[in-house]
Amino acid sequence: MAGIRWPPEDSELLQARAPSTADLISDDDRSIAADSWSIKSDYGSTLDDEQRHVDASDALSAGNFRAASDYSSDKEEPDAEVEPSMLGLQSYWDATYADELTNFHEHGHTGEIWFGTEVMEVVASWTKNLCVNISQGRTQNLTNDGSCKSETGEEVVKYLSGWSVLDIGTGNGLLLQELAKQGFSDLTGTDYSEAAIDLARNLAIRDGFSNINFLVDDVLETKLERQFQLVTDKGTLDAIGLHPDGSMKRIMYWESLSKLIAPGGILVITSCNSTKDELVLEVDNFNQRNLCPESEAMDQERRDPLLFRYLNHVQTYPTFMFAGVEGSRVATVAFQWRS
Ligand SMILES: C[S@@+](CC[C@H](N)C(=O)[O-])C[C@H]1O[C@@H](n2cnc3c(N)ncnc32)[C@H](O)[C@@H]1O
Repeated sequence: MAGIRWPPEDSELLQARAPSTADLISDDDRSIAADSWSIKSDYGSTLDDEQRHVDASDALSAGNFRAASDYSSDKEEPDAEVEPSMLGLQSYWDATYADELTNFHEHGHTGEIWFGTEVMEVVASWTKNLCVNISQGRTQNLTNDGSCKSETGEEVVKYLSGWSVLDIGTGNGLLLQELAKQGFSDLTGTDYSEAAIDLARNLAIRDGFSNINFLVDDVLETKLERQFQLVTDKGTLDAIGLHPDGSMKRIMYWESLSKLIAPGGILVITSCNSTKDELVLEVDNFNQRNLCPESEAMDQERRDPLLFRYLNHVQTYPTFMFAGVEGSRVATVAFQWRS
């Protein structure tokens, strides 16, 4: 099912200005609106789980079926705004993970792996190589496939022990398990859905990864005071962008990440709704906003030209079946936060 159209007046909320939390309509209000537009039943508990996942994947990737050439284009503007959908609402994710938690307790099911197992494994091994490269002082001329000089397992573990990792919108936390298998050891996952965190904790304990920390936290209003060397996002910015106030929430996202990533640290973001070029453009826009010369209020530190810097992206993704259609693509891009 493609994205859901919201009542016309909601589009007026999408104004091109920096948002404050008070500007935003709460998810609860949106749920009420959704009820009155009779669309919530599409995701009601009577719907078959498998079908709902197909619908959800479809909505998350709305507008994502592009010609391969689009992925290397030098577009100056991102695509037209993605249509909002229930996947932008916390109420949707709370209901989804409550179901997945029940399925875990009753049948031992892991739940949805967003973009599939193969993408998750590519993200984890590519990220490991990137971090090893950076640990060795290599941030320029990174290889296309992200490979690094071959190292022994012990050397890799030694390099990776210095990397604190935060996975935002972690869902069932399986990406963190995959990163643990690659050798990362300081791992934290956050999600605004309590049921997701409950599921992720249960799965981690069952699978022997009880050292992974999981916390309930809304990345847009984070309560975390710690900074991390590596922040990962697989599908979370996509979901945030599907909120009816998605444009403003995306601006808040980059502001929030700039506080969560340690100096010199990196963000590895995986998206099915934005191409690599679109993510680079979004980051450029963030940099421009924060370099704004007329803002007297900004201190010198915030005018540092090295804010987010594009590092590399995964160039080896195969095409894969997505919601029953072949040709869907995913982008994984790494950005470095200023040193
Ligand atoms: C498409 S799912 C991806 C889940 C997981 N990263 C994965 O790859 O399986 C999007 C996730 O983002 C979470 N999420 C959305 N908005 C969030 C926010 N503002 N703060 C924290 N988590 C959020 C949702 O609860 C959901 O778990």
